[in-house]
Amino acid sequence: MKILLAASEAFPFIKTGGLGDVVHSLPLALKQLGHDVRLVLPAYRDVLAGVESPTELGSWMIPGMKRSHKVILLQAHQNGLGDYLYLIHVPALFDRPGNPYVHEEGYDWPDNAERFTVFSRAVAEMARGLPGKKWLPDVIHCHDWQTGLVPAFLSLQQPRPATVFTIHNLAYDGHFSQQNFIDLGLPASWWSVEYVEFYGGLSMLKAGMVFADRVTTVSPTYAKEICTPAFGYRYEGILRSLGTKLSGILNGIDLTIWNPETDTYLAKNYSAKKQCTAGKAKNKQFLLNRAGFNKTVDKTAPLMGFIGRLVEQKGIDMIIRTAPVLFETSNVNMVILGSGHMAYEAEIQQLAEDYPGRLYVHIGYSEELAHQIEAGCDIFLMPSRFEPCGLNQMYSLRYGTLPVVHHTGGLADTVTDAQIDTIKNKTATGFVFYHETDEALREAIQRALVLYTQSSVWKQLCHTAMLSPLGWERSAAEYLKLYRLSMASVAK
Ligand code: ADP
Ligand code: GLC
Repeated sequence: MKILLAASEAFPFIKTGGLGDVVHSLPLALKQLGHDVRLVLPAYRDVLAGVESPTELGSWMIPGMKRSHKVILLQAHQNGLGDYLYLIHVPALFDRPGNPYVHEEGYDWPDNAERFTVFSRAVAEMARGLPGKKWLPDVIHCHDWQTGLVPAFLSLQQPRPATVFTIHNLAYDGHFSQQNFIDLGLPASWWSVEYVEFYGGLSMLKAGMVFADRVTTVSPTYAKEICTPAFGYRYEGILRSLGTKLSGILNGIDLTIWNPETDTYLAKNYSAKKQCTAGKAKNKQFLLNRAGFNKTVDKTAPLMGFIGRLVEQKGIDMIIRTAPVLFETSNVNMVILGSGHMAYEAEIQQLAEDYPGRLYVHIGYSEELAHQIEAGCDIFLMPSRFEPCGLNQMYSLRYGTLPVVHHTGGLADTVTDAQIDTIKNKTATGFVFYHETDEALREAIQRALVLYTQSSVWKQLCHTAMLSPLGWERSAAEYLKLYRLSMASVAK
């Protein structure tokens, strides 16, 4: 099968969150199953800087906001990947520093509607054939609102490939004004509740939902949750109306990059079967040293970690409120890595000042420290209010760092709560709480702290967690099934 993935980010070229990880590892898993998979990204400045001598395949003139853009299709050459990575090069829209979506001061790039409309039009052009190549995709798999208009533009083409649209997070929907809709010159017939109009504006996420042949999200539980008002961000009615066109496929993780046995960021490698206790102890020591806590801290005390975007979704405010109580009542320490809302960043830094030697905070982004936290901590905190899938709890499982999670979305689908029966039948892998309250989070952490003192039970939990099936095989096969179904529906 010839599959083109279109997205606004992909590790290692550019990544702001889990979307980047998925768009890196899903195509590789599909390739391993023998399919011809290719990836297209916008040619952001950082991406261009990170790829070897891209070659120009051709160009198109594509309408933007009140002006047309010359869009150059580049092919980037990456070792060992062959014909794989394509870049949509429009310097006026993508050649700028930093984050793909926001200005360094935190506000959205003002021309985001135009940037991702032009990107989506260019992807639709690729479906007519790549200049100089005999390659027509059978299916285009689009990710998140930035590519929501791809299925819409493709609906105007005949013949066309099948389209699958994956929602990674309903909280980000690419909602723009009616004036933007007009200025972008989108077909007037699309301005209707049946198509892209959403509460008086243009929703690019909705375009993906209504025009794609199949719609997925990244866990079965989230697929159900988003059909309810509590999680649906007002899209619940539309999502419910999709019926069987909507499904949830759980993300996998890249077992090569996230492998404690070979991870080069770690002070000591380990696996479930080899050097697990010694390896974790060494990595904990390393992390405590890095935090500057080596002299002050009780090394036998459990160390808890958090990594993520500092936004309300992740429940970071619950951690900020719960941490002082824990520090006052228990012998625990904590490491936090993240960036996001300035108010949260300031509160966490204040907390670190209030509890010197107990809480280490790194505001910013660091792949290296993320790996070291996964390896060096005992417990990982992920009290997300909602979590479409979540990758960090899976990295934690693989590194034997038991996650404490809220029962929502992919967290509910990947972590088995330690209860009497699950401990006994050796299926327990972490600690789950069911109510979105500080008390419930604290209670789950307390349960973890109690079990931490029972070292044989703790070891068993770590062992089960580390052997959890977290790879892409099953999910990649599910996507293939869906691609086939969508191709069959286009052929009709
Ligand atoms: P989301 O996509 O909602 O942010 P996920 O759990 O799916 O959440 O994925 C987050 C990804 O981003 C993980 O790979 C995580 O390690 C990474 N990440 C988030 N914040 C940071 C950070 N400050 N430094 C390093 N990696 C980070
Ligand atoms: C989004 C979600 C996260 C998910 C990731 C990859 O960023 O917030 O839960 O794991 O996409 O699908």
